[in-house]
Amino acid sequence: MLTSEAILPDRPDDGNEKETTLYGSIGAILQVEQGEGTVVLRGERASVAFRYVDEHTLRMKLFFGDNPDMRTTPAIMQAAGNGKIEVEERDEHIVLTSGALHAVVNPQRFSLRVFDAEGRLLLEELETAWDTPTNVTFAAAKTNETHFYGLGEKTGFLDKNGERYEMWNSDVFDPHVQDTDALYQSIPFLMRFEYGKPTYGLLLDNPGRTVFDMRSHEDRYTISTHTGELDLYVLGGPGIKDVVRRLTDLTGRSYMPPAWSIGYQQSRYSYMSQEEVLEIARTFRRKQIPCDVLYLDIHYMDEYRVFTWDSKRFPRPKEMMAELKEMGFEVVPIVDPGVKKDPKYPVYAEGVRNGYFCRKLEGDIFIGKVWPGLSAFPDFTEEEVSRWWGDLHRFYIEHGINGIWNDMNEPSVFNESKTMDLDVLHGNGGDPKTHEEWHNLYGFLMSKATFEGMKRGMGGERPFVLTRAGYAGIQRYATVWTGDNRSFWEHMAMSIPMVLNLGMSGIAFAGPDVGGFSHHSSGELVARWTQLGALIPFFRNHSAIDTRRQEPWLFGEQVESICREYIGLRYRLLPYLYSLFYEAHQTGVPIVRSLIMEYPEDRGAYNICDQFLLGSFLLAAPIYRPGVRSRAVYLPEGIWYDYWTGERHEGGRSILADAPLERMPLYVKAGAVIPEAPLRQWTGEASDEPIRVQAYAGADGTSESRFTLFEDDGRSYDFEAGKYRLREFRLTETNGQVRFTCECSHDGLSGGRELSLVFNQAAGEPAGIEISGDAEIGAWTYDSANRQLQVTVRAANSFELTIR
Ligand code: GLC
Repeated sequence: MLTSEAILPDRPDDGNEKETTLYGSIGAILQVEQGEGTVVLRGERASVAFRYVDEHTLRMKLFFGDNPDMRTTPAIMQAAGNGKIEVEERDEHIVLTSGALHAVVNPQRFSLRVFDAEGRLLLEELETAWDTPTNVTFAAAKTNETHFYGLGEKTGFLDKNGERYEMWNSDVFDPHVQDTDALYQSIPFLMRFEYGKPTYGLLLDNPGRTVFDMRSHEDRYTISTHTGELDLYVLGGPGIKDVVRRLTDLTGRSYMPPAWSIGYQQSRYSYMSQEEVLEIARTFRRKQIPCDVLYLDIHYMDEYRVFTWDSKRFPRPKEMMAELKEMGFEVVPIVDPGVKKDPKYPVYAEGVRNGYFCRKLEGDIFIGKVWPGLSAFPDFTEEEVSRWWGDLHRFYIEHGINGIWNDMNEPSVFNESKTMDLDVLHGNGGDPKTHEEWHNLYGFLMSKATFEGMKRGMGGERPFVLTRAGYAGIQRYATVWTGDNRSFWEHMAMSIPMVLNLGMSGIAFAGPDVGGFSHHSSGELVARWTQLGALIPFFRNHSAIDTRRQEPWLFGEQVESICREYIGLRYRLLPYLYSLFYEAHQTGVPIVRSLIMEYPEDRGAYNICDQFLLGSFLLAAPIYRPGVRSRAVYLPEGIWYDYWTGERHEGGRSILADAPLERMPLYVKAGAVIPEAPLRQWTGEASDEPIRVQAYAGADGTSESRFTLFEDDGRSYDFEAGKYRLREFRLTETNGQVRFTCECSHDGLSGGRELSLVFNQAAGEPAGIEISGDAEIGAWTYDSANRQLQVTVRAANSFELTIR
């Protein structure tokens, strides 16, 4: 525990930002050289290479030698950079043009400004300077009106102006608080937003320790490196969604997970035996609380040796798995990178024999202490090691396991530095990197190896990988959970901006431990957190050893029924949610969105941290304090309906929402089109009932709203070969006449085309319903008490329905 001694005056590190003397700067540009897609500006003291990765993405690399090293880290997908680059001299400036962006360099004394095609200023660089070639600081302009988003998994509020963060993957068990600089993930990506101006992003491709400082200076923000070179990507907008799209063009889109991993998941450190796991599964089914996944934490292993079972606790894992499958459960075991140092343990022996573990330059294997005691760590920078590690997962696949949980992969080591020695040398296919230089990539590369190994072994099925550590691009291989939070109301509140900023950093599939990991939860907290979790992409309840258990039925009947209802809500929303996952996989646009992302002109929206949108139609306003039974909800422009009561609200203002314990304030936008499924106990449970499309009228005169429903088998990669169905729904309302259009742009599935359309807030009993296209109306009913019109449409491929 820290005492007041921690704030002793005049100690060497008093926490204040020290002004380091930066003495090097580029100086004047002496020469311009144009090569294949690259322009090099040779300066007095250093040079800068520019490349357009595509027309919206400018790469800028500072270098000191003769030639720039344009290789990238594995985070980057489009390393080659096919973008065209044109150079001209204009008004004594050097202008580098892609079409969509213009980079303007002042050659008298290097400075850079980036404009968009309309000539609007995006980035204004103020200084690029260093004290040593690897301690570089890049400064760019900000004002009091600037808002910052992104930066991945960080504590604090949504808008990061006024904050300073380090990128250094860290296992932080201390409570995560606002001045926790670094957590498990490092996504060195910052988005700069100002009302009325084009938004842009900056990605720093440097997996060593870096600092993003939006606090220390009024007029500028700085990005600093401590190792490696300054390798920056400027991503054009103009909108927030555009920037996220560009970022995921560069670092990849979220993987398409199996549908079961979108269901509710239950975990505990640890379920201690096979019998306990089965009992938990049976309880879910008996109590009719939907659930898809159970987790096995470290106690399933033989003295924490990965790829083994503890034969006393789990004597018949195959039988257990068969019984769980029968009940519709998937199982996700934990796999940490530390391999127990034990010559009789085949994974360790093989790893040593083949030179697969990380070593110091002098040749010794790096040995660190983790759960199994002294352990070695695979060097995932080597292709052969990654393949070996990935193939070891056949052990799990043979047991019917389709998902893996990667933990402790910062890597966390129980020593003073909390991680691997910085002078460990990673082989990296002949281009060695010290651990200090590539620390933040360790978890990324472990999850990559895991994902690829599982994919290879699963015969066309889609794996699920969960990770604690990661770097930019981690979304290609894994889902991110936000590590060891606590059962604190503050941590529930903080999880919202954290997940929203992860989404704005390209990581759409993320979420916290629902109920809180360490400390002791309460029934009220579990109820409220489950309400929130039901609408967050990754939905897992997990808790630590020695804490109060937190399965949904342990806090009395009221909490149990609240959990059942909200988990059920998630299962009903699955077609909507699954389609949003597909959208994220296709476009990078996140599943849950900050209000500012959907309403970038709304002056009240830039820092709303306690509300979010699921897709663009559902707005959630969770309760995150105990004893609170009402709250203010800010509704952006438009008409909104209370999801529970149907009450209509005019947006562009705040309202006071009623929130008894069983109610999380939730709103649906007029014009919404939300496909829902019948309630199931697990995502794969068979059902004959058709998809029910909930349409909400009342957006008369506003523009058409759209939603694209994606369907496939939910498990395989067959969708990549065309076995999927895409139906775009469009809703328009003019002078009280509602038109619902369904356009099937791809139909690679057989059967299951029927739709049940529900028009909520209907103006009255329809005078007539007409349909055209290749579909027919089955039956329709009008419920005047609820103002609901229900129409069944058979063979619903492409059709147009008009209600008068
Ligand atoms: C770490 C993980 C936690 C897990 C525990 C034991 O603390 O973050 O989720 O339960 O290790 O494996």
